[in-house]
Amino acid sequence: MIDSMIIRKENPNDFEKIYELVKVAFQTANVSAGTEQELVNDLRNSDKYIPELALIAEEDGRLIGHIMLTKTHITREDEKYETLLLAPISVALEYRNKGIGSNLVKHSFTLAKSMGYTSVVLVGDPDYYNRFGFKKSSDFGIVYKGIPEEYVLACELTKNALIDIRGEIASVS
Ligand SMILES: CC(C)(COP(=O)(O)OP(=O)(O)OC[C@H]1O[C@@H](n2cnc3c(N)ncnc32)[C@H](O)[C@@H]1OP(=O)(O)O)[C@@H](O)C(=O)NCCC(=O)NCCS
Repeated sequence: MIDSMIIRKENPNDFEKIYELVKVAFQTANVSAGTEQELVNDLRNSDKYIPELALIAEEDGRLIGHIMLTKTHITREDEKYETLLLAPISVALEYRNKGIGSNLVKHSFTLAKSMGYTSVVLVGDPDYYNRFGFKKSSDFGIVYKGIPEEYVLACELTKNALIDIRGEIASVS
């Protein structure tokens, strides 16, 4: 961990730097569409955006990490359950493996829980996300069309939040 790191809400002065950070970070991702920086802008400009849950990590005024949790839902027939999508998360190359990504995840989850959200879903590498309590969403009966099930993950922020939830995650785009 870096002692002088702070985590705070993003604001318009950060947007250009976030775009660059995300673009560069995903050049080294195991799987990347190459458009994650556009996804950030699209989500920010949509009704899915939650300003309190778009966070940056900063050291001495330098942007070193970013995370976004936005609104999504799981649907089954007429039922619609609100959940959060974690996407994307980025840490600057030279600051990797210092716990910044983990801090961003944990901090955002604490905030999300305090705002009344009960679960988070994402598409990502289980080897990274299992440590935060993510499981295969298919274990809960939750799927994301077109994505192999081992990469679609879900995490309960409150106990048994997903126990009765089945269905399909709404498309990101
Ligand atoms: C993924 C990412 C956000 C992690 O940030 P970080 O600050 O380096 O992460 P932390 O320091 O909290 O955790 C580091 C640990 O995660 C592991 N890890 C990092 N990325 C991983 C991945 N894609 N798959 C599996 N494990 C991963 C590291 O090996 C390290 O393991 P250890 O604790 O056993 O040593 C960062 O590597 C990044 O920006 N990657 C490019 C963008 C990306 O891939 N985003 C996630 C898409 S699923």
